[in-house]
Amino acid sequence: MNWSQLFARKDLNELLVDMKGDQRLKRCLGPVNLTSLGVGAVIGAGIFVATGKAASETAGPALMISYIVAGMTCIFAALCYAEFASMAPVAGSAYTYAYITMGELFAWIIGWDLVLEYAVGAATVANGWSGYFQTVISKAGLHFPSSFNRATVVFENDQFVLTGSYFNLPAVLIVAIMTFILVKGISESAGFNALMVFIKVAAVVFVILVGSFYIHPENWTPFAPYGWTGLNIFGYHIAGETNAAHEPVGMLAGAAIIFFAYIGFDSVSTHAEEARNPQRDVPIAIIASLLICTILYVAVVAVLTGMVKYDQIDKDSGISSAFKNAGIPWAEVIIATAGVAGITSVLLVMMLSAPRVFLAMARDGLVPKAFFADVHPTFRTPWKSTIAIGVFVAFLAGFLPIDALLHLTNIGTLFAFVIVCAAVLVMRYTNPDAPRPFRCPLVPLVPLLGIGACLTLMFSLPAANWLRLIAWMGLGLAIYYFYGMKHSTLRKGPATPTIES
Ligand code: ALA
Repeated sequence: MNWSQLFARKDLNELLVDMKGDQRLKRCLGPVNLTSLGVGAVIGAGIFVATGKAASETAGPALMISYIVAGMTCIFAALCYAEFASMAPVAGSAYTYAYITMGELFAWIIGWDLVLEYAVGAATVANGWSGYFQTVISKAGLHFPSSFNRATVVFENDQFVLTGSYFNLPAVLIVAIMTFILVKGISESAGFNALMVFIKVAAVVFVILVGSFYIHPENWTPFAPYGWTGLNIFGYHIAGETNAAHEPVGMLAGAAIIFFAYIGFDSVSTHAEEARNPQRDVPIAIIASLLICTILYVAVVAVLTGMVKYDQIDKDSGISSAFKNAGIPWAEVIIATAGVAGITSVLLVMMLSAPRVFLAMARDGLVPKAFFADVHPTFRTPWKSTIAIGVFVAFLAGFLPIDALLHLTNIGTLFAFVIVCAAVLVMRYTNPDAPRPFRCPLVPLVPLLGIGACLTLMFSLPAANWLRLIAWMGLGLAIYYFYGMKHSTLRKGPATPTIES
């Protein structure tokens, strides 16, 4: 085994020259499209589905602060992402950035981790979509049979239990439809996305404006019934309270759960290759989408916990039920319908991002090129990997419960952010003079805060997630050892020890 290959780095300049090759994606996205893709990727199942349960069981009204903590964590990571995205505006996101800074092994780890984030995240979202969709059609008296309306298993008291449903049919169907749209092409996808984004932002603003008339400020007391922390390290309790299943609860634990609601802003950088002016527009789009979402989320939680006492919030559909119980049932229908639209656009962006990470890895020979780097001659999309990801997502969404999928997505994403923040520090040290159209401010403070905040949230998640993350990573490393290392294109040429500016 050639150990030096593990740390062989890609050359930034070569990468930029490579981008002029012909198997590239169409450059058709401007700043508004990109921000719209960002907001499209961010607002979805997190706010519409996970908020009710997190407010009632994990954080209480202090979930407002949880959203600020999670938002700040993302802003630190986003500033680091934006610096890299502006330096190396190619598909592949943090995977590519890691390859030029920390070498092939780290690049593999992060690429594999990003596939986890996007694919398992898409499965989570498809699962949430299924719930909302069934609420909407039930208003018309339509129901899926109980043997096809939920995941096969749920996670209860530390074990998976059968639900009596064979698989979640609506979740599988929506994944199949999205796969079809994505194979057809990015331009159509971006137009469809813009419409969905408009509908869901309108729904969120509707919740805030209408709901604010029904707030009872006394519901905000006690503000933090579960405390302000919630931290364990590999199952050893460190701070705050735990629930009956020995999982941490409190404001920080709430932030770790609803962190999911922010996932997706980083996918803007995976579209850098399709951006018209990536240097300027990608950082703008990442930060703009994050700020917009933080403001909306905190306002939604303030309204929800103000309308309903935290311990009476409906765990499955907190927001729409709050309106129903306030005596405005028509609002429930509007919110559930817009929720379906909103969640659909998240699913689209997540399923669009995963094949693009594989595309970047395949170009480097780390996964089979003929399959994962094959761009369709007419549609100019990575169609084979889009279909493969579609099948994988459908499988996860059909069989597994939303909680387990959501937690796994969170820990995988937080792990990716830790590496991205670290990579900014490494890059500033190894390549101080490389052109940086966007510079992360206050280095090293911001990347260090990013690393600290992400690790804290990782430790605020139930401990079982660490085992699942380690298992996924172990599988990835085995594939790298048996395939990626042998086929890496970098192995065939001279490894580049440093990057010229
Ligand atoms: N942030 C996305 C959502 O909440 C993943 O659905």
